[in-house]
Amino acid sequence: MDGRVVLITGAGQRLGAATATRLMDEGCYVLIHVRSSVDSAMSLIEESTARNGEIRGAVLQADLTVDEDVSRLILEVKNHPRVVASGLFGLVHNASFYSQGSFEEITLETFRSLNRLHMDAPFWLTQSLIPELERVQGSVVAVVDTSWGRAWEGLAHYTSSKAGLRQLMLNLAGELTGRIRVNCLAPGAIMAADWEAEHFASVLEKVPLGRSGEAADIASGIHFLLNNGTITGNVLHVDGGWTLNE
Ligand SMILES: NC(=O)c1ccc[n+]([C@@H]2O[C@H](COP(=O)([O-])OP(=O)(O)OC[C@H]3O[C@@H](n4cnc5c(N)ncnc54)[C@H](OP(=O)(O)O)[C@@H]3O)[C@@H](O)[C@H]2O)c1
Repeated sequence: MDGRVVLITGAGQRLGAATATRLMDEGCYVLIHVRSSVDSAMSLIEESTARNGEIRGAVLQADLTVDEDVSRLILEVKNHPRVVASGLFGLVHNASFYSQGSFEEITLETFRSLNRLHMDAPFWLTQSLIPELERVQGSVVAVVDTSWGRAWEGLAHYTSSKAGLRQLMLNLAGELTGRIRVNCLAPGAIMAADWEAEHFASVLEKVPLGRSGEAADIASGIHFLLNNGTITGNVLHVDGGWTLNE
């Protein structure tokens, strides 16, 4: 993937950071988008530089729920010298906010914020970056989840916005056929959020493989989807078989 440019949203920490690291080690130049994790993202780049002997990334900051920020981010990506020179090989919609609350407790503001993060921003980023992606036969990967079609306690606001993202991407895979490949990756129970750490073990009991995956498994799946030139309109489940049991 030498010199190929990939933008990953929400990549300063956790699964996004593992993906950024994997892609930098594969030779990509990664635009690491963050909202607040600037220091952590800078460390990823410094560590990659030490391993790989050259700078393979840059940090871009934006709150994806704020239109002015998204608009600025799009311009920064389009005008980035590496994108101007090499186009955009990959766009990975990874940024997310995972919280639990009963339906009566979730405010309209929270619901709208998740829709902005999981749907509006991916819509706008994808639409705006089509020329840069198309120029280099690039592709889009959206990180969704395994909630599709089922009810999850206290997660209606989260699962519905992820379902919207998934459908948006699959529809685009059809609409953009022959121009840009579009896929989704659905992680299972990989890395607990703080609020679910206590009951994560009971979640893992439902996973046929009996364990969570690794952040590196998600990175590997995204690397695969970006590189396989024939796969489009697919949802790759990286979930230890979790969807089989629900
Ligand atoms: N963890 C799992 O086991 C699991 C399971 C199923 C699906 N997934 C999906 O896999 C992806 C990665 O999971 P994760 O657990 O690593 O994600 P995460 O930690 O919940 O979120 C990733 C990043 O999203 C960014 N973000 C949050 N709100 C934002 C906003 N308003 N604007 C811009 N960025 C914002 C944060 O960036 P800053 O840190 O810079 O603020 C955060 O580091 C997500 O899409 C998630 O839904 C994860």
